[in-house]
This record gives sequence, C-alpha cells and structure tokens, in this order.
Amino acid sequence: MTQRPASRTPLGRRARLALSALVLPLGFGAAGCSGGLTDSPDTTTPTTVEVVMIEGRPLRRRNGRLHRARSRRGHSRLTDRQALRLAPAAREALGSHWRNQGELEHASVVAFHDLARRLALADAPDELLRRSLRAAAQEADHALRCFELAGRYLGESVRPGRLRRPVRLPRSRATELVRLAEEALRDGVLNEGFAAWVATQQLDRARDARVEETLAVIARDEAEHAALSVDVLLWCLAEGGAPVRAAVLAAAESLPERMIACVVPGDLDRAALADHGFFDADPTGAGYAEVLAATLAVVCGDCSDRAA
Ligand SMILES: [Fe+2]
Ligand SMILES: [Fe+2]
Repeated sequence: MTQRPASRTPLGRRARLALSALVLPLGFGAAGCSGGLTDSPDTTTPTTVEVVMIEGRPLRRRNGRLHRARSRRGHSRLTDRQALRLAPAAREALGSHWRNQGELEHASVVAFHDLARRLALADAPDELLRRSLRAAAQEADHALRCFELAGRYLGESVRPGRLRRPVRLPRSRATELVRLAEEALRDGVLNEGFAAWVATQQLDRARDARVEETLAVIARDEAEHAALSVDVLLWCLAEGGAPVRAAVLAAAESLPERMIACVVPGDLDRAALADHGFFDADPTGAGYAEVLAATLAVVCGDCSDRAA
C-alpha cells in the first residue's frame, strides 16, 4: 500500500478543469459518510476535487445526480444494553451514521435492479444478469442490517423510504454500452472497490459484535460487486469496440484524485465511535490511491502517466 506524494500531480491541467466542472463533493465537511460521486453537469463551482465515497452502488437520476429515499422512524421502541452504555451524543451520531449507510444501501438495491434490466436490454450474458440480481439481494440485506444498527442506537426502529426506479429514455445499444462501461468503471470498480476496502479497515477496528458482523458481510459483498463491475466493463469493451474504449479511457482520466472515506465529528469520543464502525479508515488517502491504481489497471494496464 503506497501513498501518492502530495507534490506529484497525476492529472493534467485540462483534466483538473474537467473534474472541477463534473465533480461536486456532496456532504463534504459535514459529519457522516453521506455524499459521493456525481456527474451532474449543472453543479456549482466546487472548491475541491475530493469526493466522499458512498456505500454500495450509487443510484443516479437521468442527469447523473445521486438519488435516495429518506428513511423514516418507526414506532417500535428498541433497547440495547451495549448501545445504552454510550453517551447520548455518541448514540445520536452512530444512529445517524448507520441510518445514512442504510439509505445508501437501500438505493443500491434499485441501482442493481436497474443495471440488470439494462444489461438484459443490451443482450448481455445471463451470468451478468444473474450476478446483478444477486447483488441487489445483497444490498437489500446490507440496508436491513444498517437500519437495524441505526435503530439500536436511536432507540426506535428505522425503515426505508419509498424509492422509484429512475426513468430512462430509450438509447441505442451502442450508446448504452458506453454508459454501462463508464458507470461500471466509476460506480462499480472504483466506488464499490473503495467501499470494500473501507469496510475491511472498519471491521479490523470495530469492537462491537453486531457491527463486526455487519461490516464483515458488507466488505465481502462489496468486493464481489466490484468484481462484477470489472466483468461488465470487459464485456462492454468486447462488445462495443473502439467507441467504448475511447469513452472508458476518457472516464478514467476524470476519476477523482481523492475520495474521502468518512467524515467523523471531532467533538465526540472517536474511540467509542470507531468501536461501533464509525471511523475514517483512510485519513491519508493511501487506501484510495491503491484502489484507484487497481481500477486504472483494469482499463489501461499500469497507466503510469495517470496513477503515478
Ligand atoms: Fe455494493
Ligand atoms: Fe452494499
């Protein structure tokens, strides 16, 4: 694992300007792990090219903006002796963190159902469809586990909101192959690959048995989802030829230089939060640099000019 030196800038000026126009660090600076990648063209001018990783596969609207449903608090009262030992502020922060994770996982279920449908329309192999549907079921399990953890800290049950599948205009197969390949690279290989890396680190640090169980499942499944995206990407490249290859190489140039794993409030007991899985696993960016290099290697070998 190596950290990219701060003085070396792998992106050219043109690529940096392009990134400034394309990337908005949603939620950056606020507590929690919300936010994430967005490719919306109508963003305000950002002050940084850093973005916050999102849990699971991002669900995007037609304009590329991220989409999710706000969860609701239920009526069931919950008590947990382990959670009750924590200070009220720590419980509130943990409840908010796991609730947020649950919402992102819940959106990922729809994202994978949508992916399976689009792969079917593009006449993809049955195996990719089957793995996409399996990923959707796994994301549903992640969402349930995260909402259960949230309810444990908040003292009352949390349930997912209503989420509709994004409406998509008909596209030619050639255009859809390009879009599927770009999304597989950015949202799957990179984002879910980093999510798997982060969950593994959080698992190593966690001390609470229920949190450890949840993180173990998430780390295993997110790595599987990143591997699925590698195969979707390779299939799109094989099917789509030169136009897909050109689009993927351009997308590789636009990948974020840095992705933030998590933003933890500074005024709380950080050790207690880390025991329960709320922990910035990649403060130096070394982990992200490792995942980014592996992602770039999928499309362009060692990509020495981009990942150096
Ligand atoms: Fe995932
Ligand atoms: Fe997930």
